[in-house]
Order: sequence, then C-alpha cells, then structure tokens
Amino acid sequence: MALIEWKDRMSVGVDALDNDHRKLIALLNQLHDLMRGVRTDVTAHQIVHELVKYTEYHFDCEERLMRLVRYPDYEEHVRIHRDLKRRIIAFEQKFLSHPASEALVLPLFDFLSDWLMRHILREDMKLRPYMIRSESAGTTTAAGDVSPQSQPTGADSNDSQR
Ligand SMILES: [Fe+2]
Repeated sequence: MALIEWKDRMSVGVDALDNDHRKLIALLNQLHDLMRGVRTDVTAHQIVHELVKYTEYHFDCEERLMRLVRYPDYEEHVRIHRDLKRRIIAFEQKFLSHPASEALVLPLFDFLSDWLMRHILREDMKLRPYMIRSESAGTTTAAGDVSPQSQPTGADSNDSQR
C-alpha cells in the first residue's frame, strides 16, 4: 500500500481528463492519509462520497469527449465505467451502514487504486491517439474546458494540484 503518484506516462493527451485523473488520485491519497492517521479533519465516508461524485462527473466528461472524437470502442468503455460506478456506490452504501468501520478503508483504497491505475494505463490510453488528433484540431480543448461551477466541490479542492 503506497501513495499513488501521477506520472507523465499516464497522460491521455487532453488536459481536462489528465486533471480529472489527478483529482481522483488526490482523493485516493486522502484515504491513504486517513489510514496512516495523517488526516483527522475528514471522515472516510466524506472522501468516499466525494469519490463517487467526482467519478460520475469525470466519466460523464470522458464519455462526452469519446463521442466527440468518435472513439470506436465507446460502448465497451462506457460499460467498464458503469461497472466501476456500481462498485463504488456499493462501497459507499457499506460506509453508510457501518460509518465507523475503518476496516473498509484499506480494501477500498486497494481496489480503487488498482482499478484506476489499470484503467488509465490500459483503457484510457487507447483514447490517446483520438484525443491528440482532435486536440490538435482544437475540438477536445473546447469540449473539455469545463467551467469550475459545474465541477463537484470537494472538501479539499487544492489536492487536485498535488
Ligand atoms: Fe475511462
């Protein structure tokens, strides 16, 4: 179990998606800090709730960009997103029914960090050539430029810069 670090090789070629991935990593690292006792100002449930909201927001944005660049495996990618959404919502339900259960934090961190890294490096990376081609044509930049008002507000939005 280690903190997750953003690496340049994780870039999918469009800033809006890279920034979302950084934010998701920052949220996962908050869970990590919680497990180590580094943070006490936030509960696991608050972080999980933020993870659910931000994941939904990010998947919507990514799916919109996939449609825009006419990504050929769109349906399969959306199916994978839907499956993950279902799983993290199930985790959130467990946190709601056992709010004090710290035992749930480690399995959630392990599951999500493994899922996110594999998803970015294997699935999202397949989008890269389509995103780069459209980015150079100026299409994805405009579509991926989401105003801050439409993004979920986090308890710790500065973590997106970590
Ligand atoms: Fe994705």
